[in-house]
Amino acid sequence: MKAVLAFSGGLDTSICVPLLRDDEEYGYDEVVTVAVDVGQSGEELEKARNKAADIGVEHHEVDAVEEFAERFLAPLVRANGSYEGYVLGTAVSRPIIAEKVVQVARETGASALVHGCTGRGNDQFRFENVFRGLMPDAEVIAPIREYSLTREEEIEMAEHYGVHVDATREEPWSIDENLWSRSIEGGLLEDPGNEPPESIFEWTASPGDAPEEPETVEITFEEGVPVALNGDERSLVDIIRELNYVAGEHGVGRTDIVEDRILGFKARENYEHPAATVLLEAHCDLERLTLTRRQLKHKSTAEAEWAELAYQGLVHEPLYEDLNALIGSTQKAVNGTVTLKLHRGTATVTSRESPDSLHRDDLASFESDEDQSGAEGAVRFHGFQG
Ligand code: ARG
Repeated sequence: MKAVLAFSGGLDTSICVPLLRDDEEYGYDEVVTVAVDVGQSGEELEKARNKAADIGVEHHEVDAVEEFAERFLAPLVRANGSYEGYVLGTAVSRPIIAEKVVQVARETGASALVHGCTGRGNDQFRFENVFRGLMPDAEVIAPIREYSLTREEEIEMAEHYGVHVDATREEPWSIDENLWSRSIEGGLLEDPGNEPPESIFEWTASPGDAPEEPETVEITFEEGVPVALNGDERSLVDIIRELNYVAGEHGVGRTDIVEDRILGFKARENYEHPAATVLLEAHCDLERLTLTRRQLKHKSTAEAEWAELAYQGLVHEPLYEDLNALIGSTQKAVNGTVTLKLHRGTATVTSRESPDSLHRDDLASFESDEDQSGAEGAVRFHGFQG
């Protein structure tokens, strides 16, 4: 019997392998691991590869970076994707990872799909609804949840099985990384009253230590999607990578929030997402120049719904595509270039221009000599009902 496991080489997923093999209830003699490249660092992928070799399993690596950017991040930018202020990194990567796991299961003739999520988080929902949707006959297994393992017990179990893990009792972070963002949870971070130690951050400089000199970046959008950085046409993946680096150096893109999870309880979360901050700031700003007041108002409602579906991983719910279509239609006008200044943790828009700008000098300017008397009638009736 063969099981395919979504694998990062971290503590949770590493423990899953001996459990799948040794547990009488599971008893899978063959475990195949899959790491999906969604833009996490090369070291992360290497860690998974080495760990799989260590444990002695057949390991597959699937490159999905471009596809992730095109199918999930472009719509996210257009929808200004954010759930309660969280930029939706992990959430939007899970469906594509789950899809690739199913693909490997089919290729290798496996009958079970496995993830290493705990029974507390959101990822179990995101993985399983795609697993069940695409491969309804497969057995779905979640060893960490089924054993109700604590992180401490997992570390003990890793020692018992001789599986080397990076997580320690002092730094037991659960980290998830992709092209768009990095999340850090666990240990002392769980208490919302604790300040995060500087050592959890890898993508961003501490704003206080960032360069004194601001740096300017220029983002060009076509139909709501970034197509150029500082005037150079680049792929979305390249733009994001470059901005993660440049804006990260300026300490841009840290979020520390208390978030409402799918299961209904609150969890404290830390994130790093420099490119996302810059691109979403720029995109929102350009929309304010190019969309009508009514489009903006209605779009914000659609965005909230979109973000909730994305957060829950419900990208196969038909409404998700309906919302993408509606949002996509508004984006026809979202063309132009936005300039931002990066400085000590902030990304501030300083100018914007667009061939589709709705801004009219002749109407808005203090200097316009346009006849103003026409406003009188509108003003007179403006509080009429009151
Ligand atoms: N709270 C975030 C989310 O629900 C981050 C999850 C991070 N996942 C993880 N397995 N470390 O998307």
